[in-house]
Formats: sequence, C-alpha cells, structure tokens
Amino acid sequence: MSKTVFVTGGAGYVGSHCAKAFANAGWTVVTYDNLSRGHRDLVKWGDLIEGDILDRASLRAALEQVRPDAVAHFAAYAYVAESMTEPALYYRNNVVGTMNLLDAMVETDVRQMVFSSSCATYGISDTLITEETPQNPINPYGETKKFCEKMIRDYGKAHGLRSVILRYFNAAGCDTDGETGERHDPEPHVIPLAIRGAMDGTFTFNILGGDYDTPDGTCIRDYVHVSDLADAHERALDYLSSGGKSDIFNLGTGQGSSVMQLADAVSRVAGKEVPRVIADRRPGDPPILVASADKAREVLGWQPKRSDLESILTSAWDWFQREAKS
Ligand SMILES: NC(=O)c1ccc[n+]([C@@H]2O[C@H](COP(=O)([O-])OP(=O)(O)OC[C@H]3O[C@@H](n4cnc5c(N)ncnc54)[C@H](O)[C@@H]3O)[C@@H](O)[C@H]2O)c1
Repeated sequence: MSKTVFVTGGAGYVGSHCAKAFANAGWTVVTYDNLSRGHRDLVKWGDLIEGDILDRASLRAALEQVRPDAVAHFAAYAYVAESMTEPALYYRNNVVGTMNLLDAMVETDVRQMVFSSSCATYGISDTLITEETPQNPINPYGETKKFCEKMIRDYGKAHGLRSVILRYFNAAGCDTDGETGERHDPEPHVIPLAIRGAMDGTFTFNILGGDYDTPDGTCIRDYVHVSDLADAHERALDYLSSGGKSDIFNLGTGQGSSVMQLADAVSRVAGKEVPRVIADRRPGDPPILVASADKAREVLGWQPKRSDLESILTSAWDWFQREAKS
C-alpha cells in the first residue's frame, strides 16, 4: 500500500516541485496550504486541503483525516527583506505555525517530519559551510528557521519524533517539464528578476550591493536546482521510512556564483543583455553563502544533477516564457 505524505506549503515553489517528486516515487500526496503565497493550479499531485498552520483545530482535523506516514513541512514566509521590516509576521507564521504542526503531529501520532530550513540560519561565514558551522543568523527569517530547528529537535527527544532538517541554499530553476515553477508576487528572488530584465525591455535588474568583499563586489550564492532539492526530500522520506535517525543536511553544490556572474549567465541563456544597475545593499544579506553538501551525499546518496547555472537558468527561462504567454 502506498504511503502518504502531508505536505504543508505544497502550493508554493519548492513544495509543489517536491509534491511531484513524491508522487512520482509512489507516495500519496496531500497538500495543506492556505494559498496566502501559493497557487491552487500548482497543486497537481494529490488533493489540496485549504487550511492554515496557524489554525490548530483545522490542522489537527486534517491530520486526523489524512493519517499520513510523514509530514513534509514547507509552509512559511521566506523573504529576508520582509522579515527585517515585519518580524512579527515571521515569528508568528514560521515559529508558532511550526509549533502548532508539531503539537498536532504528536496529538495524532505522526512521528516523521522533513523540514525546510535554510542557509539563512548560518549568517556570515567566509568558508564553505558545513552542518557544524555555527548558526548566527543576521535576519529574523533565519532566526525563525533556527528556532524551528530547535523545536523540532526538542519535540523529537521528548516525543520520539524523527526528523530530517534540510538546510537549503538558494533554490533555483523550474521543473523541466513545465508542470510547475516559480511564481512569487512580489518577486524578491534574483533569478526571476534577472530574467524579467532580459524579457521586458523596460525593467532594470537591481544588483543589491556592489561593494561586498567578493571578487566582483556582488554577493555570492550557491544555487541549487529545485528539482534536485525535490530529489533530496524524497530521499529524506525514504531514509525516515526505513528507520533513519534524526539528522540535518545542507543542500547545495559547493560552488558559488556572484550576482554579476548570474546576470551575465542570464544574458547568455536569453540571448539578450540583462539591463542592470548597482543599487544599495539589502539589509540582512550575508556576502557569501556556499554549502558543503558532502554529508547529504554520504548519508542520503544525494547528488545534484541539474544544478549547473546553465541548466538552472534554461529551465527558469523556459518557465517564465510560458508564464508570459499564458
Ligand atoms: N526558495 C528558497 O530559496 C528557499 C531557501 C531555503 C529555504 N526555503 C524554505 O522552503 C520553504 C518553501 O519556500 P518557497 O520558496 O517554496 O516559498 P513559497 O512562498 O513559494 O511557498 C510557501 C507556501 O507556504 C504556504 N503558506 C505560508 N504560510 C502558510 C500558513 N500559515 N498556512 C498554510 N500555508 C502557508 C504559502 O501559501 C505557499 O504556498 C519555506 O519554508 C522556505 O523558508 C526556501
């Protein structure tokens, strides 16, 4: 009999790609999402329960109804800049929401969780980041994820809940079949914005800071294809299903690209120059975030397959071209 995974935030960018991977691997998928930042039409792999993780009664009723084997928890707010100006929104949605989910899981006897954490929990680091690198977030978003990790570990010890915490670096690219993709409004992410620059002659791509201590002065990030992330989530579910102990993994490639290099690469893929200006730094942005993902490779057998910049940008370009026509 197929196993069931309860996917909070499955109508969003990363969640919908993971829902596809779970379904393709034989899982029955049920998405739980309030559609505050997600899209009904991206829930294609299983049922949608429209509900809020801040609504404890609805969450518990949904878990009682679905009786999942595991929870994959994506639902959160995830914009660094917004978290700097609206911290309460982030602490409430991400921390209180996760606590509600953990309580509901314990009450309904669901004991396996895969959690979306982030490189934003690390803060500033000038070396390759391993899972042992100290976590000193420099924005409220990163703080909320660090809090959630701690809660998940503490609930784990107290209630026998096993978890895989995945700290992803910059999720990027889109499903190569064009079945789901990235759609945020407003869009804060660098690749969609650079692509908009190439697609729309009137839009200038703002590079947020040109005076960082990096070779070209712009921030360096480790971009990982969202479908590679989805593969890691599926491996995490399998790992937990076969009795794996609670653990934490970075998901990245070990390769950094600067925002300037990214804009150049988008120009190449698009065959059109990305018009760009250097603007002010965005508060809360560390200069460099690059992962060591050796542990995910060793324990989960995970290896990114589509996370070279060319594959990421081609898949994103194709998606945004289709979105513009629809
Ligand atoms: N995108 C990235 O680069 C990145 C990097 C690291 C970690 N993450 C984490 O991955 C997860 C998914 O990120 P994303 O980029 O897909 O974001 P997203 O905004 O596209 O998806 C989040 C989904 O959660 C839903 N949601 C939010 N609050 C909810 C609530 N209270 N109740 C029910 N549903 C709610 C939204 O409607 C949306 O569908 C988040 O937890 C984020 O912190 C993302």
